[in-house]
Amino acid sequence: MTRHLILPRPDDWHLHLRDGAMLAAVCSESARDFARAIIMPNLVPPVVTGAEAAAYRERILAARPEGRDFTPLMTLYLTEETDPADVVRAHADGIVTAVKLYPAGATTNSASGVTDFDRVRGVLEAMAGAGIPLCVHGEVTDPEVDIFDREAVFIERVLDPLRRATPGLRVVLEHVTTREGVDYVRAHDTGLAATLTVHHLVINRNHILAGGIRPHYYCLPVAKREAHRLALRAAAVSGDARFFLGTDSAPHPDAAKEAACGCAGCFTAPNALAILAHVFEEEDALDRLEGFACRHGPAFYGLPVNEGTITLERRDTPARWPARIATGDGPVTVFDPGFEVFWQVREAG
Ligand code: DOR
Ligand code: ZN
Repeated sequence: MTRHLILPRPDDWHLHLRDGAMLAAVCSESARDFARAIIMPNLVPPVVTGAEAAAYRERILAARPEGRDFTPLMTLYLTEETDPADVVRAHADGIVTAVKLYPAGATTNSASGVTDFDRVRGVLEAMAGAGIPLCVHGEVTDPEVDIFDREAVFIERVLDPLRRATPGLRVVLEHVTTREGVDYVRAHDTGLAATLTVHHLVINRNHILAGGIRPHYYCLPVAKREAHRLALRAAAVSGDARFFLGTDSAPHPDAAKEAACGCAGCFTAPNALAILAHVFEEEDALDRLEGFACRHGPAFYGLPVNEGTITLERRDTPARWPARIATGDGPVTVFDPGFEVFWQVREAG
């Protein structure tokens, strides 16, 4: 049985680090294991301009633990007022790696997102020309569409037309949760990829709703039925380079999750890699973990694979992590996979 895996340091291609006291508390949880992360711009107010992204990057670097090599790859929050020239300039200056599309109202702090996709056509065309990837939260917000169908409907109504209208635009369909999402990505060869979270490989909607409501499993897109979870696992372990890790680790104070109207987000930064190794072992695919966590993402983004390494170790006793971490905004509960995990990260460097 494999007991050690030495991998290039992985990257997290979708991460929420927040700001202020929360950033100060959670940054080290990602910087410990990951070398780089695509940083989500859904702050309040959102990170809209190149100058705001540069300032946010400085705040992240200031929160980074001493001596830890962790590079935040910044994104801009696409609005109907986004200036194409600012996006292209921020990318050319190395400040911004990608642009994030939130359909207005789809999720946490997405009120400034896009309602009329025709109004962002100019930005998307400029991005296609400059090779700037678009990271997409793939859910429609139409109240008439059932929440469990919102990803599949988004692909048909928004994503496919948008990609056809903007040839050459590189797109990451983020945190895919459905078989339809997996199939759509598999059916298109160029310029399209998808990230998968760890939690969507582990939970289905029963985990959220059966036998009592579990707010710490609530995220968006919401976990779907079991058949979809199995499709996601198959994609993750397939070795197909279009699929890579984006944890969507999204901390909220417990008081905001355990509420009458609780926030969406699972906080997986502390244990994402341990759980991921468990999943890949269960799927008899540990040899494919390196591709999924360390190689496919850099290949899509045109970046080198990290030079440092990380060691994952399989122990005889279950891994331990704190049930919650303390932050200046109150405690934040760490994602509980609901089973024992025997893998853990030994060292990163
Ligand atoms: O569950 C989620 N939480 N999904 C998102 O898209 C946003 C995120 C957050 O910012 O909390
Ligand atoms: Zn997210």
